[in-house]
Amino acid sequence: MGTLLRRYWVPILFSDQLPEPDCAPVRVKVLGEKFVAFRNSEGKPGLVDERCPHRNASMFFGRNEESGLRCVYHGWKFDLEGRCVDMPSEPPESNFKNKVRLTAYPCVERGGLVWAYMGPAEHRPAFPDLEWTTVPASHRFATRHIQECNWFQALEGGYDISHLHHLHRGAANLKTHSTKFEFIRSDFGFIAGNGSEVPEGTRWLASVMLMPFHKLIGRHAGPDAPIGAHIWVPIDDENCMIYSIEYHPDRPLGEAEMQNSKNWNYIHTELIPGTDRAVRNRDNDYLIDRELQKSGASFTGLKGFGIQDCGIQETMGPIADRSRERLGKSDSIIIKLRDGMLKLLDDFAGGEPLPGMDGASYRVRSAVFTAKDGEAFADMAPALVKAAAKPEVVATTG
Ligand code: FES
Ligand SMILES: [Fe+2]
Repeated sequence: MGTLLRRYWVPILFSDQLPEPDCAPVRVKVLGEKFVAFRNSEGKPGLVDERCPHRNASMFFGRNEESGLRCVYHGWKFDLEGRCVDMPSEPPESNFKNKVRLTAYPCVERGGLVWAYMGPAEHRPAFPDLEWTTVPASHRFATRHIQECNWFQALEGGYDISHLHHLHRGAANLKTHSTKFEFIRSDFGFIAGNGSEVPEGTRWLASVMLMPFHKLIGRHAGPDAPIGAHIWVPIDDENCMIYSIEYHPDRPLGEAEMQNSKNWNYIHTELIPGTDRAVRNRDNDYLIDRELQKSGASFTGLKGFGIQDCGIQETMGPIADRSRERLGKSDSIIIKLRDGMLKLLDDFAGGEPLPGMDGASYRVRSAVFTAKDGEAFADMAPALVKAAAKPEVVATTG
């Protein structure tokens, strides 16, 4: 799985965490490894191994100066590409610095985030053209926090539709139960279909799962509401960084929308200042309010969708033991998601190309549509999730 994840662009931190050229380096742990992110004198971001290749001192304490990060132990200095550009501890005639490299990965900035590509250079894919990465900053609100469980466990929660009837009751009140389930592979990843019968046929919610860990949430709150998105980035096997984004494709977010987000009612989560840890966390039982729970205003007594999801997924253990589950019909999508990912891993091991290598394939949204009797989900969904997004804006000149 790690090899597969390294074939995609991985978000590592917000651009404003590296606020200016030559600013202080920032520790980043991602895909089980420790790194340091920094911005060089030209303002370009980079991601390098936290350990200096000389004697393994931490580059976090390094001096970020004149287009390179200099280890403070013996002064070796490295550029964004990891080349050693100065080795003051060696004799001037030595060419040893040409033989030493600090592991470094290419980075780009999109959608207010810095993304790194950590795979083989010859397999570097196009950048995923996720709609929220293309809108102006005013159209977007994004937060992140550490979720203390495995990333796939968290991602599964994003496609577990039946929990909406319970976990989020009070904030969201779903009226219909899904009775039909489809899960198909597409050029960007997968499309999960939850269907319910209506007089005209089947009403489908087609939720997109974009490789390897992106979700776009269906627009539940009306045609002009912001759209939600998640990214579940593995920190290590037992922790992930969940990025939560709300965006509007056509206009800046309004004051009331921003206030709702900052009141932590929806997918965003309040942080302990200066950290990526939620105020409501496992050590304080997510500040469950038993009176609120009893009142019926909230099914859980937990404040906000974000903590309801993350909290309850953490209670399943750092890596949930799937052998102890009892899955029913309503868990069909979870079963199909696991099967789909395992099959994809097999295909990848067998040398088949991965979905999502073409950046334009990411230009989709989750969508709701009605299929008449005899019309198949698999025939309709791929075109409709594409049609739901705005077409790529092609820059014109002259
Ligand atoms: S350990 Fe970094 S320069 Fe010696
Ligand atoms: Fe949820």
